[in-house]
Amino acid sequence: MAQTQTATQSPAIPTFDENNAAAFQNRIADTLNSGAIAMMLSIGHRTGLFDTMANLPPSTSAGIAEAASLSERYVREWLAVMVTGGIVHYEPAARSYALPPEHAASLTRGAPLGNLAIYAQDLPLMGAVEGRILESFETGAGLGYEEYPCFHQVMSEDSGQNVVAQLFDTILPLVPALPARLVKGIEVLDAGCGTGGALIAMAAHYPNSRFTGYDLGADAIATATRAAKVAGLMNLRFEARDLSGFDEAGRYDLITSFDAVHDQKDPQALIASLHRALRSGGVYLMQDIGGSAKLENNLDFPMAAFLYAMSCAHCMPVSLGQGGEGLGTMWGWETAQRMLKQAGFGTSERHVLPHDPMNVWFVSHNA
Ligand SMILES: C[S@@+](CC[C@H](N)C(=O)[O-])C[C@H]1O[C@@H](n2cnc3c(N)ncnc32)[C@H](O)[C@@H]1O
Repeated sequence: MAQTQTATQSPAIPTFDENNAAAFQNRIADTLNSGAIAMMLSIGHRTGLFDTMANLPPSTSAGIAEAASLSERYVREWLAVMVTGGIVHYEPAARSYALPPEHAASLTRGAPLGNLAIYAQDLPLMGAVEGRILESFETGAGLGYEEYPCFHQVMSEDSGQNVVAQLFDTILPLVPALPARLVKGIEVLDAGCGTGGALIAMAAHYPNSRFTGYDLGADAIATATRAAKVAGLMNLRFEARDLSGFDEAGRYDLITSFDAVHDQKDPQALIASLHRALRSGGVYLMQDIGGSAKLENNLDFPMAAFLYAMSCAHCMPVSLGQGGEGLGTMWGWETAQRMLKQAGFGTSERHVLPHDPMNVWFVSHNA
């Protein structure tokens, strides 16, 4: 009797479709190819090869290597990846290589369309901790930020492009009265400021306002402090500090967090403490990843698999490593909105900016 019930409830065994299987194998081969190209995009960015090539006429591998001050043999092998990967154009008769301007527009520093090669650096970053992540699959343990080589440098390039470059034209005007208040002089905190690029730009732009940046990473704060000193900014202070248990009630007129909530130890407690830290009339401007909390809603979200991979290999483990919840990169805008409300913000406006469909911006006022 029991056997009959089990048999009846089992789902039908799907038939094996050979065409689907062959198509899927091709898809996986393409994925492997794309992954290898992406690794080499990172090298093209970090060596400056894309920037060099964007400024050269079609050139031989020797010419490109010389212009970039790199080893010709390595450059030639990298170029072979770029040619077979459809990134670089090759002229066999002249043995010359060229980076088309339409491709340079997505792969070079200051590229008008945004430099996607910056994100390619996340792949070797994930690869560097694969052994530790494999252990964590068994133990469930988290990782520390310091285990990720160059994390703060990569993050600083990412936010340099997505946040700092857009601050004055797009981001701060999300709160219409804010630029004028910053000109007059207010107290500003950036929570989880990383290497401090956004605060340094704001402190230089608004000399009457005072800026504070806190971040867990002593190395990130050391970089930020050095940069502020070089810029000669006196209205700016950085401090290495764990924001768990943060408590500076009624101290700030503006609090920002740029991609710095979901991987904290306790995001809900952090947002509540930021709410308390605002003066009456203060504003919390929060940027975070704009995916949905529901997996099924993210099937068409830009670079969703990439973001879940970053979550699995970085954002979730660093939160778990702090004894946190491990919400992950794709914690979802719905979760963020709920936490903002629970923290005491009556309403929060939600914005998605045209230059950056991956992120969401919440503007929340302390009434
Ligand atoms: C994704 S990075 C963003 C950094 C920076 N806001 C930017 O846009 O470049 C997240 C930052 O949150 C910081 N962070 C994570 N947990 C923290 C904690 N408990 N206290 C303070 N900072 C923390 C990390 O050190 C890291 O710099």
